[in-house]
Amino acid sequence: MLIDPCELSPSYVRSIAPYQPGKPISELAREMGLDEAGIVKLASNENPRGIGQRTRAAIEAAIGGARYPDGNGFELKQALSARYGLDPSSIVLGNGSNDVLELVALAFLGPGRAAVLSEHAFAVYPLATQARGARAIVVPAKNYGHDLETMAKAIDDETYVAWIANPNNPTGTLARPDEIEAFLRRVPERVIVVLDEAYNEYLTPDLRANSAKWIKRHPNLVITRTFSKAYGLAGLRVGFALAHSSVADVMNRVRQPFNVNSIALAAARAALDDMEFVARSYAENLQGLKQLEEGARRLGLDFIPSHANFLTLRVGKASEIYKRLLRRSVIVRPVGGAYGLPEHLRVTIGTPQENDKFLAALAASLKE
Ligand SMILES: Cc1ncc(COP(=O)(O)O)c(C=O)c1O
Repeated sequence: MLIDPCELSPSYVRSIAPYQPGKPISELAREMGLDEAGIVKLASNENPRGIGQRTRAAIEAAIGGARYPDGNGFELKQALSARYGLDPSSIVLGNGSNDVLELVALAFLGPGRAAVLSEHAFAVYPLATQARGARAIVVPAKNYGHDLETMAKAIDDETYVAWIANPNNPTGTLARPDEIEAFLRRVPERVIVVLDEAYNEYLTPDLRANSAKWIKRHPNLVITRTFSKAYGLAGLRVGFALAHSSVADVMNRVRQPFNVNSIALAAARAALDDMEFVARSYAENLQGLKQLEEGARRLGLDFIPSHANFLTLRVGKASEIYKRLLRRSVIVRPVGGAYGLPEHLRVTIGTPQENDKFLAALAASLKE
């Protein structure tokens, strides 16, 4: 073979370091000969409550699949439109919110363009930027969170996208609504500001903003949301963007025609109305967060105060502690590498029993 087929891909694609997802339970069971039932996975910020009863019923009713789904997601968009007070033409549905983030990159980035993002920000932002051949401008974090003032200053003539995770993953940090609004007033209209609110439902009411209403004043704002976290549908992959209709229009042009499958559409439609499920997810998450914070304090560990469904703890030699936890059937997420936090581990808030198991395994792993 004279040529490695990989070399045919543009250099900016070849230099991408693949996204490292949380280790699947089945993989750990295979690798270590462990019983799947005994494994606790707190590595991907999934909802420990599983899927709600009403949503499960909607999924069962939607089973079929011989026909293509409604590529425009009419019913889900109608419901989202009523919820957020925006026209359906302002909504873009995605195969998870990850998909809509990619659509922003596809629609607005390319070689010769740049996107600004924060150090320790969600890993998909640099990946999606690089995959388009665009340049990532990475701004140092402030107290582990986004330094919005410095991000605004870092915008240059080639910058077309600003990525903001609020709360951020993996740090759980939050920029207050007034800080986001100040950022929106400051950035050039040409820059699409992506406000990724994947963990919004976990915010305490005093910290929640009606960000959808900012779109009218700032047509360059794209808000992304997901059904993967508080709604409990991570495995079904549904997310959406709220944006000015002309921004949504261009994102829809680069979208696969049937990017959200029919079962996922039906599940999301039902989950959106199950307010009780979301309220319980919120309340249980706050309890679990307290449980993990108290456990970390007992072990003398620092943590980054979190506004989401995970806590990022400073454990020292994180890659070693991660492996010791695996041997104790507990999967968490190392956040060295692309996230730049080699001394930390991110742990998703689980059920009270899962949290206890993690804390006991952590105590033993730290002593080992
Ligand atoms: C900040 C943030 N945005 C987006 C996503 C993507 O989630 P999904 O594609 O499941 O909606 C995640 C997933 O963990 C996340 O942490």
